[in-house]
Amino acid sequence: MSHADDHAGTGEGTRRDFLYYATAGAGVVATGAAVWPLVNQMNPSADTRALASIMVDVSAVEVGTQLTVKWLGKPVFIRRRSPEEIEAARTTALTDLPDVGSENANKPGTDASDANRTLDEAGEWLVMMGVCTHLGCVPLGDGAGEFGGWFCPCHGSHYDTAGRIRKGPAPRNLPVPVATFFDETTIKLG
Ligand code: FES
Repeated sequence: MSHADDHAGTGEGTRRDFLYYATAGAGVVATGAAVWPLVNQMNPSADTRALASIMVDVSAVEVGTQLTVKWLGKPVFIRRRSPEEIEAARTTALTDLPDVGSENANKPGTDASDANRTLDEAGEWLVMMGVCTHLGCVPLGDGAGEFGGWFCPCHGSHYDTAGRIRKGPAPRNLPVPVATFFDETTIKLG
């Protein structure tokens, strides 16, 4: 093979590669053009906020019932507690609690008094991650367990009406995520 043939072969190969990539590139551009209008409508900061926080309409939640919503891939319990549940939680001594921290992202460093666990002063609204602090099961609610709050059947953890661990292997109270009342009937998570 001569030196010239060698060059010619390489040239053809390069040209074929170039055509192949150009075609593939055109495909990508076409796809990009179709997708762009959708992406362009989403303000990046709004998109990030949407992922980090959600609004929950709680206007239909009756006293003594709860709503479970999915947020950041996890269940969140939003309970509107009855006067009895509030009373039970508020009269519990801190010395009866295995975890004496509020575990409330809105009140870091506070103790596990019921008032430090709830979203409102009166203690009607309790918002918690529905994830057992033992190994992550979703506890059963609506008065379940020996303390009338939540019960995790996986290994038998009992939480009280403030979502505080009272008995069983779970080491911590159910965590309260960053949450606030956006308006009278809307809770904002995150
Ligand atoms: S995961 Fe809840 S008790 Fe083990």
